[in-house]
Formats: sequence, structure tokens, C-alpha cells
Amino acid sequence: MKVLLLNGSPHKEGCTYIALSEVAGAIEKEGIETEIFWIGNEPVKGCISCGACKKEKGRCTFDGDAVNVFLEKSESADGFVFGSPVHYAAPAGAVLTLLDRVFYAGAAFFAGKPGAAVVSARRAGTTASLDVLQKYFPIGGMPQVPTQYWPQVHGAFPEDVKQDLEGLQIMRTLGRNFAWLLKCIEAGKEKGISYPEAEVPRAWTNFVR
Ligand SMILES: Cc1cc2nc3c(=O)[nH]c(=O)nc-3n(C[C@H](O)[C@H](O)[C@H](O)COP(=O)(O)O)c2cc1C
Repeated sequence: MKVLLLNGSPHKEGCTYIALSEVAGAIEKEGIETEIFWIGNEPVKGCISCGACKKEKGRCTFDGDAVNVFLEKSESADGFVFGSPVHYAAPAGAVLTLLDRVFYAGAAFFAGKPGAAVVSARRAGTTASLDVLQKYFPIGGMPQVPTQYWPQVHGAFPEDVKQDLEGLQIMRTLGRNFAWLLKCIEAGKEKGISYPEAEVPRAWTNFVR
């Protein structure tokens, strides 16, 4: 089993990375593989709602940024942690443009797989940012992994985050809970309990009719 962790910061080894590393360390201690995927610091295009991904299943029509690379890794991953710094009391813009396109193109890669979000802020805007990131889970059919308190760390620099002992403990608890839920899902599959099939056809009614 493998957990894919998105580092949505422009800093490859900044504060968000420290938080994600703590989560990943706790998951690996439970014998589960992890990969931290850095979004990079090149622009990530937004979704233009062209619908091309409905034909090119699992791919966005735009290559050249992190989206299709993340999608390829998502197909075989068993769980996801979305990490973002707080920018103006919201997740970093690139994280949202990436996740919008990833979920629109590759929803099937996420359904039934656990997810969690973690954020890093110098001071404020964490719960507002979590609120946004955590909305991908229910709409994506993903059980959300709990931890012991708000999944956030504080700092301007990695050294600050290393002093946020409560934040780091929250990350370790998240990692252990993540491993527990993955093992429960695996044990369920062995007993014939799988994620329910979706109803076909899928209902799609707009509010105007
Ligand atoms: C454009 C921008 C906006 C920011 N806005 C906030 C904010 O609203 N609240 C806050 O506490 N920190 C804010 N910060 C600081 C970062 O969220 C914080 O330092 C974070 O821990 C950096 O994580 P990183 O090293 O992974 O990028 C902002 C930083 C940038 C670059």
C-alpha cells in the first residue's frame, strides 16, 4: 500500500514539507509506503471546463504542469494527504488549480480511498483553508482520516515548525490513524467488503430544471 502526499508549497522543503514528513514518517512506521509529491514552482493552469477529460479518462488535456504527473501517481495510490501553505487565509492558488483539474479528470482514482488535508501558516487562516481542502473528500467519495486536533502547523520557516510540538504530534497521530484506516479497508476487502458500486446512470439535475 502507498500514500501519496501533495506538497503544495512553492518551497520544496519548507514548512508544509516538515508537516508532511511527520505524517509520512508515522505512516511508514506502520509498514506502508509513502511518496511526497512537490507541486513545484512553475504555474499550474486552472480548469477551463472544456470537458476534454471526459473523453481522455484520467487525463487533463493540458500537459506541461504537475497535473497529469500527479494523476498518473494517483491511480495506483491507496490514500492521499493534501498539504498546503496558507496564502491570504486560503490554500495556495496552485493547490486549488491542481486539485480542481485532478478531481475533474480523475475522480475514479480517488473514490473509496482515504484522504486528509494539512496546512501550514505563519499565524492565521488555517481553518478557513482546511475548510476548502476538506471539501474534495466527500464529493470525491473519500473517507476523511481524523487526527487529535486541527491538522495544522505554524511557522514562517521550517525551524519554526520544528518547535510546534503540538502541530507535529497532530501530524504523527494523523499518520498512525491513516495507516489504521488503510489496514481496516484492506481487511474489509479480504472479507469481501468493497467500496459500493455507483448507481448507473448517474443523476445530473441542475437547479434550473
Ligand atoms: C502570498 C502569501 C500569503 C500568505 N498569507 C498568509 C496568511 O494569510 N496567514 C498566515 O498565517 N500566513 C500567510 N503566509 C505565510 C505562510 O503561510 C507560512 O509562512 C507557511 O508556513 C509557509 O509554508 P511553506 O514554507 O511550506 O511555503 C503567506 C505567505 C505567502 C507567500
